Amino acid sequence: MRRLSCFLLITVVQLSTMFCFGQRKTIDQRVDSVLKLMTLEEKVGQLNQYNGDWAYTGPITKDGDKQAQIRNGQLGSMLNVITVEHTRQLQEMAMQSRLKIPLLFGQDIIHGFRTIFPIPLAEAASWDLALMERSARIAAIEASAAGVHWTFAPMVDIARDPRWGRVMEGAGEDPYLGSLIAAARVKGFQGRGLGNTDALMACAKHFAAYGAAVGGRDYNSVDMSERQLWETYLPPFKAAAEAGVATFMNSFNDLNGIPATSNKLLQRDILKGQWKFKGFVVSDWGSVGEMVNHGNVKDNYEAALAALTGGSDMDMESRSYRDHLAKLVREGKVKISLIDDAVRRILKKKFEMGLFEDPYRFCNKERQDSQWNNAAHLRESRSMAAKTIVLLKNQGQVLPLPKQGKTIALIGPFVKAVRDNLGFWSYQWPDDSTRIVSLWQGVQNKLGSADKMLYAKGCEIRDTSRSGFAEAVEVASRADIVVMNVGEAHDMSGEAKSRSNIHLPGAQEELIKAIQATGKPVVVLINAGRPLVFNWTADNVPAILYTWWLGTEAGNAIADVLFGDYNPSAKLPMSFPRTEGQIPIYYNHYNSGRPAKTDSDLNYVSAYIDLPNSPKFPFGFGLSYTQFEYGDISLSKTSLRSTDKLVARVTVRNSGSFSGEETVQLYIRDMVGSVIRPVKELKGFKKITLKPGESRVIEFTISVNDLRFYNEKLANDWEPGEFEIMIGGNSRDVKKMKINWAR
Ligand code: NOJ
Repeated sequence: MRRLSCFLLITVVQLSTMFCFGQRKTIDQRVDSVLKLMTLEEKVGQLNQYNGDWAYTGPITKDGDKQAQIRNGQLGSMLNVITVEHTRQLQEMAMQSRLKIPLLFGQDIIHGFRTIFPIPLAEAASWDLALMERSARIAAIEASAAGVHWTFAPMVDIARDPRWGRVMEGAGEDPYLGSLIAAARVKGFQGRGLGNTDALMACAKHFAAYGAAVGGRDYNSVDMSERQLWETYLPPFKAAAEAGVATFMNSFNDLNGIPATSNKLLQRDILKGQWKFKGFVVSDWGSVGEMVNHGNVKDNYEAALAALTGGSDMDMESRSYRDHLAKLVREGKVKISLIDDAVRRILKKKFEMGLFEDPYRFCNKERQDSQWNNAAHLRESRSMAAKTIVLLKNQGQVLPLPKQGKTIALIGPFVKAVRDNLGFWSYQWPDDSTRIVSLWQGVQNKLGSADKMLYAKGCEIRDTSRSGFAEAVEVASRADIVVMNVGEAHDMSGEAKSRSNIHLPGAQEELIKAIQATGKPVVVLINAGRPLVFNWTADNVPAILYTWWLGTEAGNAIADVLFGDYNPSAKLPMSFPRTEGQIPIYYNHYNSGRPAKTDSDLNYVSAYIDLPNSPKFPFGFGLSYTQFEYGDISLSKTSLRSTDKLVARVTVRNSGSFSGEETVQLYIRDMVGSVIRPVKELKGFKKITLKPGESRVIEFTISVNDLRFYNEKLANDWEPGEFEIMIGGNSRDVKKMKINWAR
C-alpha cells in the first residue's frame, strides 16, 4: 500500500512537473525550442508566402509544385485561400512536413468578408471610432470563421492625392484622424487578442509613404523629407504599432531612392528599433523581386540579400527568399542570426494564434456556416453605411424626400447596379445578386412598393453615348422628384486604378445637365472610391449626397438617408479639389511667404490665375438636415505655462428642425515655429447629438502635448509662443482665438 501510494505520488509529481513545465514555458522559449530543431532550409521555408490557386490579387507566378513544397516545409504562409475546406486541405499538407509547423493564411479583408461594409475611406467619413472598430470586428468574426488567420489591413497610408486609386482603402489625408482610425481598426480585427478564434492578426500597411506616389500613379516613386515622413506619413503606423498590430507590410514604392522593401531606416531603425515592434514584416506582392526593376539590385539573389538585411521577414510571392537565402547564408553574406530573428517573429505569431496546439482551430465548418449569412451583421453594416453618407448640398431643403404622395424617377447607371455597390477589395460570391441591395431595391423596400417609382438608366458608366438621354428626360418629366445615381464603377478606384482625370466618368455629368433642364427637383447621389470632380453638378443641382461604395446594404442605407430615417452626419476625410490641377490638396498646408488673402487675390501671391486655391469641399465638411450654430470660443486662460491645461469651450446649437449629429472639430495653429507649422492641424473632435432647439457646451482640454511637432533635429517637442485655437464644423468655417503658451 505504501509502495503504491509512493508510486502514485511520484507519477502525479512527474506529470504535474511536465504539465507545469509546459505551462511555464513562455512562447519565446517554445519558439526557441522549435527553432533549434530546424534546418536552414526549413527556416527559409517559414519566410515564404505563396498565393493559393483560387484567387489572385497580383501578377500570377506559377512555378514548381506548391503542394510538394508545403509537404517539405518550404512554406510558412499562404494568401488568398479561404473557406475551412480549402484551408484544412492545405494545413493537412503542412502537417505532413517533418516539423509539422502550421501555415498562416492571410487575406485582404479590407471592408468586410461576407457582410461588406462601406469602403474604409467612407467609414472614415463617419468619424466614429467605435463603429469602425466594430466593423473591423465583424469582418474578423466572419473571416476567421472561414479559416482566415490574418488580414492585410488596416491600410493606414495618408493620401493627399485623389488620383491615386488606393485612397479608397485608407482614412484620408489627416494624420491625427488617421492615427485614431488605425488604432481602432487594429483593435477591431484583433478583438480580445490573438489566440481567440475570432481574432485576426492585423497588418499595418504599406510601410511607408506609399500614399505619396509621384503624380498619384500607383507603385510610383516617393520623394519626401524625413520631417514630412515623420509629421504626416508615419503617425498612423506608429499608432498601429502602439495598438499592438501583429504585422506590418512594406510597400512597392522606393522612398528617396531606396525601395521600402529593403529600407533599413524604415524597417530596422524606426519600426523594429525605435518602436520596438515585435511582430513580423511581410513584403508586398512580389516587391522583393521588383527591386530589380527599381534598378536597386541586379537580380533576385541581390534582392533577397537587400530585403532580408533591410528588415523584410516574409517574402510574399517573389520566390527570392526561397531561391537564394540559404545560399546567401552559406556564403556568409547573410548572418544566420538575421534569419533566426525573422523566423522567430513568424513562429511567435503562429504560437500566439494557437496554431501549434491545434492547426485546424480555424477550420470549423459549423462556425463558418453560422457566420455565412449573419443578419445582425447586415443590420450593422446598414447603419454604418448611413453614417458615412456625406450631405454636400441641400438647397431649398429638397431632402429628405417624402415617403408618400410623390412620384420619384430614379435615373442613372447605378440605380440598379449590384456589384458596383461593394467597390474594390470585396470578394464575389455566387449569391451576390440576391444579397447586395441596389438603390432601386432599397427605395422600394422603403416605400413598400414600386408603384410610384420610375426608372431610366440614361447612360452607361464610362461611355460617352447620349442615346439613353431622351428616355431619361421623358421619365423625369413624368415624376415629381428625380434621384440620380452616378459615379465610378467598383473597379475604377483601388489597386492599380489611378486616374489622371477624376471627373465624373463618361457622359454622366451631361446626363445630369439634361435632367436638371427639365426643371424637376434633382437629387444627385455620387458613388465613388475617391473624391471626384463634379463642379457643374455642385453649382447647379440643389441636393447632393456622396454615397461612396457602401457595401452589401448600400440601397437600404441610402434610402434611410434619402427619406430622413437617418439624418446625415458624415464629414469628408479628404479635401475635394475643384480640378486635378490643384492636386495635391490638403487642409494642413503651410502658409507660404506670399499667401493669397482671398480666393481671387492674384497680387503676386501663391495662387493660380485660373482657379481659386480653396478646395470645392473642404476637409471635415458635411451638412445635416438640421443646422448647427457655433457660438464664440471661450478659453479658460489666454496666457499659459507648460504645465497648464487650456480648456476651450464652444456652444453648439441645433437651430433647425431635425434631431442631428454633429462632429465638432478642434484645430490649432502654432503661429511661429523653428520649423514652419501648418495653417491648421486637427487636434481633437467630439461627436454630439442635439435635438431641435437644443444647445450644448463642448469642451476641449488642451495641453502642450497637443503642440508637439518634429523640430529641426526631428525631436518631437513643442515651442513656446502664440497659438491660434480654432473650433468649427469643418476645417474652413471655424471660430478662432489666440493664446500664449510659455515654457
Ligand atoms: C498588393 C497590395 O498592395 C497589398 O495591399 C495586398 O495586401 C497584397 N497585394 C495581397 O493581395
